[in-house]
Amino acid sequence: MTPTPVPFLDLVTIHRELEDELVEAFRQSLRSAAFIGGAQVEGFEREFAEYCGSTHCVGVANGTDAVRFALMAAGVKPGEAVVTVAHTFIATCEAISQAGAATEFVDIDPRTYCMDPQALEAYLAGCRRDSATGRPLGQRTGQPITAVVPVHLYGQVADMDAILAIAAKYDLIVVEDACQAHGAEYHCADGTWKRAGTFGKAAAFSFYPGKNLGACGEAGAVTTEDPEVARTIRMLREHGQAQKYYHDLEGYNGRLDAVQAAFLRIKLRRLPGWTTQRREAACRYNDLLGGLPDVTTPYEGERSRAVYHLYVIRHPERDALADHLKAQGVFTGLHYPQPVHLQKCYVEWGYKEGSLPVTERAAREILSLPMFPGLKAEQQALVAAGIASWQQRAELSGVQ
Ligand SMILES: Cc1ncc(COP(=O)(O)O)c(C=O)c1O
Repeated sequence: MTPTPVPFLDLVTIHRELEDELVEAFRQSLRSAAFIGGAQVEGFEREFAEYCGSTHCVGVANGTDAVRFALMAAGVKPGEAVVTVAHTFIATCEAISQAGAATEFVDIDPRTYCMDPQALEAYLAGCRRDSATGRPLGQRTGQPITAVVPVHLYGQVADMDAILAIAAKYDLIVVEDACQAHGAEYHCADGTWKRAGTFGKAAAFSFYPGKNLGACGEAGAVTTEDPEVARTIRMLREHGQAQKYYHDLEGYNGRLDAVQAAFLRIKLRRLPGWTTQRREAACRYNDLLGGLPDVTTPYEGERSRAVYHLYVIRHPERDALADHLKAQGVFTGLHYPQPVHLQKCYVEWGYKEGSLPVTERAAREILSLPMFPGLKAEQQALVAAGIASWQQRAELSGVQ
């Protein structure tokens, strides 16, 4: 008998478990006709800020808006440049462009897949300086660099002590892209563990359904310690108004839907338990896969407690392995197969194959294995058996 396939992500089961509560929340929304703003949005903002350990949280329409509003409110202006990584979802760069700034890329750490602080330092040190302000000028665009966006990819916080120190040295605003890192923790040099969303001037979260904390539709949020940044984002998300029909700036329709906020509050209560399940599943994978030749399991440093939005291995023959697993009923993902600097839409930026070697190699070798709360040990055993059988097949056919 063929085993039941292992999905890459199972969103049906967790929603079935929450169905009664979610339907009741929807019923309450209908009965109060509270669809925009109101108690659910405010309640979620309070609870998510508390969860992250930040002072303010502003709910917005999605994670892309969150990155864009965070950049704008933190002070990034049109004509400036922002340094980030190309090993991310394109939304990070879309948001920078939409804020009117130019993107400048640096490479990643091959172990964590997050921004490499040494690459950042080397890049900034190699920039020409503006003669009047002394600011580094982007090596691609010549525009003054005012901000850096580390991405806490796959649910692991980037090396923030190092990045914050470099940002301070070059007077750069730090905006975290924490869209994949709800609850991820990092051990700071001062001895405290802090959560994603509390390091920079502002941080962006996505609640896209597949995220660790996902809405039943689109949603996002920005966290910040700065009341002025929070106030500006509240205006940006609502057509630039601080008072109804009085527009201090030109804004957007970027509000968090009240029904989604109600759903998110229900799910936020489950998030710690789901995170524990993800971390346990990651440990189990590490044990199952650790000894297999050519398989590199994820690196989690001593200073990191990752939340495993994705469990990503590396393999030199990733595509063949993914096909083999699919034939065995094991579904995998690629995050991401084409780095942003080589995307067709950014061809005029002039990056070439070889511009960011660590990123490009990662894009060829990474493979995201099934990972979600409720993933069973037996399913993980099937994944591991599939990988081991590919290895044996390769050895038998002399591919080794
Ligand atoms: C790293 C990263 N940044 C930004 C986003 C954008 O979030 P959203 O899809 O909610 O707009 C995502 C989510 O897909 C993401 O993974």
